[in-house]
Amino acid sequence: MLDALPVRDDLRGKQPYGAPQLLDAVQLNVNENPYGPSPELVADLQRAVGQAAPTLHRYPDREALALRADLAAYLTGRTGVPLGVEQVWAANGSNEVLQQVLQAFGGPGRTALGFEPSYSMHPLLASGTGTGWVAVQRAADFTLSADAAVAAVREHRPDVVFVTTPNNPTGTSTPLTVVEAVCEAAPGMVVVDEAYAEFATAPSAIGLLERYPRLLVSRTMSKAFAMAGTRLGYLAASPAVVDALRLVRLPYHLSALTQVAARTALAHTAELLGTVEQVKAQRDRMVRGARALGLQEVPTDANFLLFGPFPDPAATWQALLDRGVLVRDVSGGPGLSGWLRVCAGTQSETTRFLDALREVVA
Ligand SMILES: Cc1ncc(COP(=O)(O)O)c(C=O)c1O
Repeated sequence: MLDALPVRDDLRGKQPYGAPQLLDAVQLNVNENPYGPSPELVADLQRAVGQAAPTLHRYPDREALALRADLAAYLTGRTGVPLGVEQVWAANGSNEVLQQVLQAFGGPGRTALGFEPSYSMHPLLASGTGTGWVAVQRAADFTLSADAAVAAVREHRPDVVFVTTPNNPTGTSTPLTVVEAVCEAAPGMVVVDEAYAEFATAPSAIGLLERYPRLLVSRTMSKAFAMAGTRLGYLAASPAVVDALRLVRLPYHLSALTQVAARTALAHTAELLGTVEQVKAQRDRMVRGARALGLQEVPTDANFLLFGPFPDPAATWQALLDRGVLVRDVSGGPGLSGWLRVCAGTQSETTRFLDALREVVA
């Protein structure tokens, strides 16, 4: 049916990005935090939305200043790096932040480079913004060395470089020394996608911002922060970068309800991040469980793991789903043949996964 429309040539034959949303299954396929908000947070959210409701005939704060100030304070508290509101930008999920980055710094005639396998939205966002995409393979163990990264950057001279750490879907952290080497070598912007930073033991690249004015560190409230439904992503960068993003954002892109919900969640930071250790403990149970079944897993610094390899990963994915457990079949991705990805659930969800996996592997 699309064929009948004058849709862009480069979109013909493509499928929309997405993973199954099966509410009846144990949902371990999109790297969410499995713990929902507490009754206290729910009550606060209801109160905050109620207070905003009478003003909904007005557009929201176009610059989202109060929210950005809260995010800056949050990042400063986590990293010890003093950040002001002018160094923080927010949008509807870090996907939108990254799209804006490519709108401002990529575009037709320009290129972005990523180290694959990595987050598959990066090349899709490049494609949607008319930015060329250069895929550079990671090492066989999915790590990224400074030498390999710098060689790729020198060879391709991209306008934007993506380094995802911890990396999705492998969970691999990239040492700060590698990020530094990329920043030294890159002729353009360097985006460090830290969507899973709060789970990681590796330090954040936010500490490098002062030295590298073309460095951007993106974050999200969708993962450790347990607010995927709010759709709030953000980045820290130099004030000039934030100004550039303001040139491409849609007016009033963050709804008043998104802004109050995100601010209310940030006021409950201790509670929301209080689940991180539990999530990591369940992830570690998954690691041990996979090993006990003779499977391999990739060392992970995030809330998910790659496990396998399976001779027929699609069949294993289906067999797990037949037992009520939804994981992600990433085996079609570059260098990922045979692998599946699962994210940590609650204790009982993790038990369901491990029981199902035992049956399937047997
Ligand atoms: C590495 C990475 N970056 C960014 C995102 C986007 O998250 P959101 O748009 O929910 O902030 C994801 C989501 O899975 C991700 O894995």
